[in-house]
Amino acid sequence: MTLEAIRYRRGHLDILDQLLLPTQSVYISINDTEDAWHAIKKMQVRGAPAIAIVGCLSLGVEILKNDFTNIEETVHFIQEKLEYLVTSRPTAVNMNDAAVKFINIAKKCGLDKSLTVEDIKQRMLEAFEKMFKDDVATNKAIGLYGAEDILEQREGKCIRMLTHCNTGSLATAGYGTALGVIRKLQELDRLDHVYCTETRPYNQGARLTAYELVFEKMPATLVCDSMVSMLMKEKNITAVVVGADRVVKNGDTANKIGTYQIAICAKYHNVPFYVACPTTTFDSQKETGKEIVIEERPPKEMLYVKDIRIAAEGIECYNPAFDVTPAELITGGIITEFGVFSPDKLYEELKSRIPV
Ligand code: MRU
Repeated sequence: MTLEAIRYRRGHLDILDQLLLPTQSVYISINDTEDAWHAIKKMQVRGAPAIAIVGCLSLGVEILKNDFTNIEETVHFIQEKLEYLVTSRPTAVNMNDAAVKFINIAKKCGLDKSLTVEDIKQRMLEAFEKMFKDDVATNKAIGLYGAEDILEQREGKCIRMLTHCNTGSLATAGYGTALGVIRKLQELDRLDHVYCTETRPYNQGARLTAYELVFEKMPATLVCDSMVSMLMKEKNITAVVVGADRVVKNGDTANKIGTYQIAICAKYHNVPFYVACPTTTFDSQKETGKEIVIEERPPKEMLYVKDIRIAAEGIECYNPAFDVTPAELITGGIITEFGVFSPDKLYEELKSRIPV
């Protein structure tokens, strides 16, 4: 049995409410793009690939129910809803990438005089469903390339990984990106141990990654974010692997807050630092990390755990949800479904493989 964050069959979409994990496993129905927008905003579903998949599948559910009177209205509706979904959270690029791609498909369909409204709905549904299905295969390729690269450098030695945030089945259609690399190492029987950080303030590591690691029976230990330097000094970490929300042209990478300081620690301790992500996380419109918009979340996420206040009344908060790791700190490389690339070569490598 595998963990399923997204349950979909044509016309029906349910997501595992990640706000309730790990204590309760409750699925909620997503009936339209408005439901999806709010679930993404509230982080009932989160993780760059999962955000895009849930957004697009919610549109699939919605268009199936709608009776459009003509083709123009259908195409306009699809465009408007995709643009709306992009506004749910600003940092992860995957929803934007999907919106650009699917708006193009809808517009092309709209120009094809041989297609009816029903044909266009069908084509869009197929495209959304393909995206959902392809994500697992993409993640498996990332897992294999990443595991091979790490093993190549550690011939015969045991592998001790560190990861941050949640990049597993809960953040994707299944298997995971950075967690997919770790999963592959375990499948190959080469994983000695994996450490995951709590990932304050939303605790994706403690609540979600720890849950996945226990579920998958991996040899795993949870550490507080503040323990990373000590961990690297004492525990002989082989490599760090994290996910990404947006990788830009020069290789700078936005990921969960705390990633940057882990990369600095890794450099100091000579531990290879990898980013694992599908190429849908690549943003060729931005030159450097300075251009990435960083989402700031409400202070409540820092001030409370569940409904219990843990910080002094009256204190102000700074709560950026992501940070940018400069390319030069990504010393292991960027693991994609096409292979592992040095951050400074990534754009050149992807140019011939994907439309950038
Ligand atoms: O705020 P979140 O939980 O959506 O942030 C998630 C991350 O930063 C992940 O590392 C990233 O989206 C990659 S998920 C495969």
